[in-house]
Amino acid sequence: MSLLLETDDLGKSFGGLTAVADLNLAVPHGCVAGLMGPNGAGKTTVINLLSGLLRADRGRVLLDGVPMQGLPPHHIAAAGIARTYQNVRLFSGMTVLEQVMAGCFLRRGTSLMASFLGLPAARAAHRAVQSHALDLLDRVGMADRAEELAETLSYGEQRRIEIARALGSNPKLLLLDEPTAGMNAQESDGIGRLVHALRDGGMTVLMVEHNVRLVMDFCDRVTVMNFGRALANGTPAECMAHPDVQAAYFGRADDAERIRSLR
Ligand SMILES: Nc1ncnc2c1ncn2[C@@H]1O[C@H](COP(=O)(O)OP(=O)(O)OP(=O)(O)O)[C@@H](O)[C@H]1O
Ligand SMILES: [Mg+2]
Repeated sequence: MSLLLETDDLGKSFGGLTAVADLNLAVPHGCVAGLMGPNGAGKTTVINLLSGLLRADRGRVLLDGVPMQGLPPHHIAAAGIARTYQNVRLFSGMTVLEQVMAGCFLRRGTSLMASFLGLPAARAAHRAVQSHALDLLDRVGMADRAEELAETLSYGEQRRIEIARALGSNPKLLLLDEPTAGMNAQESDGIGRLVHALRDGGMTVLMVEHNVRLVMDFCDRVTVMNFGRALANGTPAECMAHPDVQAAYFGRADDAERIRSLR
């Protein structure tokens, strides 16, 4: 299996605090990879390093073998990495369709000046972007809400719009930072099924996810982090059975055994 994403001893510190240390991730093409870990483990920092929002202190990020570290976020986006945020970040005052059209900006191919002047090429490009954005909304099950103001929708719906917007740049790799945070079980399963549908359409996904059941049901591979380091890599079942992972989540490994035997 060839790798779409690799990190090689990736590291980032904030002052004296090591947020990510010696992290080696390997995400094959067409895989749903999970990133787990207790609060403060460094998961969002990894997403920020991969998307270029933060610059790594050490190590490399390779997308299809091409180094990404040190590139600005828009270059990384153009190379094929898109992301969503742990806290939904949509533009206020914009419709659902407009939010997703904004995410298609990388694909436009006409100048902003041509758009302002309303030149025919710009109008045609605008229609193409609009039609693409509608397709993306259809993929996330939100096409019938296209004309509504995004801020009037539920949290779960806003998360779907954010995913559609991220898909607008036509990524190879989609990074989702806690896409099911604040959702009930039914909404969370919906996101899991959406992620599977994206994977089955050829997308590779790396998602930060706290919910163990969702990770077990929807992730092909998992990396569990604690204090910036990878504790375990493997299938969800392998990772959850790992004594270091049990210790990180439940305290000492033998405590975890005792807690499980009580259930
Ligand atoms: N910009 C920053 N400046 C200083 N410290 C930071 C910064 N971003 C993150 N940290 C610290 O780095 C560590 C890892 O944070 P990070 O947000 O990556 O954790 P996380 O695994 O995403 O946690 P959570 O599950 O709570 O979202 C934490 O101790 C955090 O306080
Ligand atoms: Mg986080």
